[in-house]
Amino acid sequence: MSKFWNKKTNELLPYVAGEQPKDGVKVIKLNTNENPFPPSPKCGAVLREFDEAELRLYPNTDSQIVRKSVANKFRDYITEENVFVGNGSDEVLAICWQAFFEEEKNTDKKVLVPNISYSFYPVYSQLYDVAIEKVPLKDDFSIDINDYIGKDNCGIAIANPNAPTSIALDLDDIEKIVEANPDRVVLIDEAYAAFKNDYETAITLVNKYDNLIVVKTLSKAYGLAGLRVGYAVGSKELIDGMMRVRDSFNSYPVDRIAQKLAAAAIDDDDYYEANRCKIIRTRDRITNELREIGFDVLDSSANFLFAKPNFISAEELYTKLKEKGILVRFFNKPLIKDYLRITVGTDDEMDQLMAAIKEVKS
Ligand SMILES: Cc1ncc(COP(=O)(O)O)c(C=O)c1O
Repeated sequence: MSKFWNKKTNELLPYVAGEQPKDGVKVIKLNTNENPFPPSPKCGAVLREFDEAELRLYPNTDSQIVRKSVANKFRDYITEENVFVGNGSDEVLAICWQAFFEEEKNTDKKVLVPNISYSFYPVYSQLYDVAIEKVPLKDDFSIDINDYIGKDNCGIAIANPNAPTSIALDLDDIEKIVEANPDRVVLIDEAYAAFKNDYETAITLVNKYDNLIVVKTLSKAYGLAGLRVGYAVGSKELIDGMMRVRDSFNSYPVDRIAQKLAAAAIDDDDYYEANRCKIIRTRDRITNELREIGFDVLDSSANFLFAKPNFISAEELYTKLKEKGILVRFFNKPLIKDYLRITVGTDDEMDQLMAAIKEVKS
């Protein structure tokens, strides 16, 4: 509380990010779903060749080269005018919230979000005065699409795969939700979509539905969490709306270095493909190993596991792993307090995790 903050600032309940180790402290970091592998070597080449004199000038407002790379990657479905680029997908999501969602006064219509999902959604809703309805997941933590069909709302936001549950909906089900809500924006947050076994993206539906906005990030599958670049793909009408909001706030969100690195990473499809497959393989191996030693593990389509230890409480295991220098994520929230969210690291990191868990168990 501060007498200098306005009422809104005093009332905010900000997002709490996973803990970051102090500089110089060595830990195995499996708590914020970063990629354990470096980005494409083409990013290294861009950095080495970058001419600092370029920094004298402002960057291109629309991140043109990134738009071009995204449009090229999904060339069968979209063009550059369907792409919006921002400073991390968190910023892109925040702009969507401002551009598309609002509280409809004197009605009980709300923006529908799953009750267990990315914890930034309620935070944006508070910041931008959007009323949300938290729609309960099924007992097995999956989303019932019927909850989003035929129900009055003023927008829908779903992470697919969902976080922290790691479970994905199939594209057919996403399409049913989008189709059933033609007058409302349906936002699909695909931060983790690259890790679904059979890669699917709702971008393939964008030219069919003008109410669909798909948000993606370079922080996970591209190994560029430190760069802060994300993007959205949607109809030109939706993208133009996002640009209106951006240009009312910060016209140059993505710097010159970030634009070049992001474009280089997106263009390197072979590296992306190899990277995501490596993580999927490790994830599936560790899922089995955890199940064998007494965990319930949900079937993950992401680069993390949502796992419940049956021989110790999740909180105690989290603390014991932390003492051993391994950080995983524990959410002290009623519905998920029995679970840990464990990022998939390298094979070696995951072997160390398994050894540490076995030591705790013995
Ligand atoms: C579901 C989901 N969406 C979006 C983000 C934000 O990603 P970034 O801002 O790094 O692009 C995250 C980050 O963990 C996430 O879990």
